[in-house]
Amino acid sequence: MHITINSGQLYGELERLASFTDAPPPAVTRIVFSDTDLAARAYIKGLCTAANLAFREDAIGNLFVRWPGREPGLPPIGTGSHTDAIPHAGWYDGTVGVLGGLEAIRALQRGGFQPRRSIELVMFTSEEPTRFGIGCLGSRLMSGSLPVERARALVDRAGQSLDQVRTAAGFTGTLDDVVLPRGYYEAFLEMHVEQGPVLEQRNIAVGVVTAIAAPASLRIWIDGEGGHAGTVLMPQRCDAFLAAAEISLAVESAAKSTGAIDTVATVGICDVFPGAVNSIPSRVKIEIDVRDIDLTRRDTVLRAIDSACDGVIERRGVRVKKEMLNADPPAQSSRRAVDILTQSCQAFGIPSLQMVSRAYHDSLFMSRITEFAMLFIRCREGISHRPDEYASPEDIATGTKVLAQALAQLSSL
Ligand code: GLV
Ligand code: MN
Ligand code: MN
Repeated sequence: MHITINSGQLYGELERLASFTDAPPPAVTRIVFSDTDLAARAYIKGLCTAANLAFREDAIGNLFVRWPGREPGLPPIGTGSHTDAIPHAGWYDGTVGVLGGLEAIRALQRGGFQPRRSIELVMFTSEEPTRFGIGCLGSRLMSGSLPVERARALVDRAGQSLDQVRTAAGFTGTLDDVVLPRGYYEAFLEMHVEQGPVLEQRNIAVGVVTAIAAPASLRIWIDGEGGHAGTVLMPQRCDAFLAAAEISLAVESAAKSTGAIDTVATVGICDVFPGAVNSIPSRVKIEIDVRDIDLTRRDTVLRAIDSACDGVIERRGVRVKKEMLNADPPAQSSRRAVDILTQSCQAFGIPSLQMVSRAYHDSLFMSRITEFAMLFIRCREGISHRPDEYASPEDIATGTKVLAQALAQLSSL
């Protein structure tokens, strides 16, 4: 079968999607269930309708777009990713897997292909943790990895509950219905920009992901004693920010001390209360992200952070409350899906590289209900989660062609 990617159309759609942003372009900020997110969703649903594809949305806003197969009763092949974007992100993270997935389906339609199994494009809700503090919200719920009661307890920074926010956005069903049974999909393929430098360094356009690293995130509240920045003398202070700073430095040294280049840890949030230059911080919230390919090593870092907190409590007399937001195991791609992606590259004479994903993706959770693999697209200098993230139209078209071929193969099995 002949597969032709309409690269101009696809790139134009990526560009248009990037115009739905709450940050000054080219930066993209698209927080789940914001008006901007809802407008972007409407744009994508319009593209699906234009491609004669029917869709449904579940109670958390996961979007399922189906191209029916000749045997519609068989478990479908899934593909897709997310379109929400962290503050001041770029154009490509997640969006390439959604719009590229749609273009892969359109390319197969144009080529006259008729799938045996249905092919289902999924746009997951809130892969990014920005609003509710937990990543992969849609796929976590879909795969039964997040108990519905825990999801109901989630609140955003403004104190609005997930239920309030999703209902206001028009997603009114019960969250219990979001869970999909194991075996709902025959297999799942996610295309995504690499977000790291490996493919560019090796001068290879696409990578096939064999495993996804194990992410964890932790929220810590530190309570000290506030007061006047001029009148409370240094020996009398119990500064919550300085305690948070010590914990943050301990996070860095815990990650470095494993001796493994694969261990990474970041303190990406630090909220200081009351947040006035002439007031001693009385309460600080930090959020910590820890990852490793190796679960045992990742957990060693979490334990080291725990004992750093104990030390800070003892030395500084602060009170510390910890909440583990998520601590997920890594996921292994299936041999079959990796082979099909690799063979699809070979079918077009496209060199590919097998590699691990250090970023997490919705596939981490899809792995709990089906077999999966991911296709990575080279990006410039490994830059991601920044406005200057970039992948070329040629590389995106190459990835989309490989994805289309792999979907065709899998949907025929
Ligand atoms: C996904 O956005 C990640 O942080 O890996
Ligand atoms: Mn991201
Ligand atoms: Mn992503």
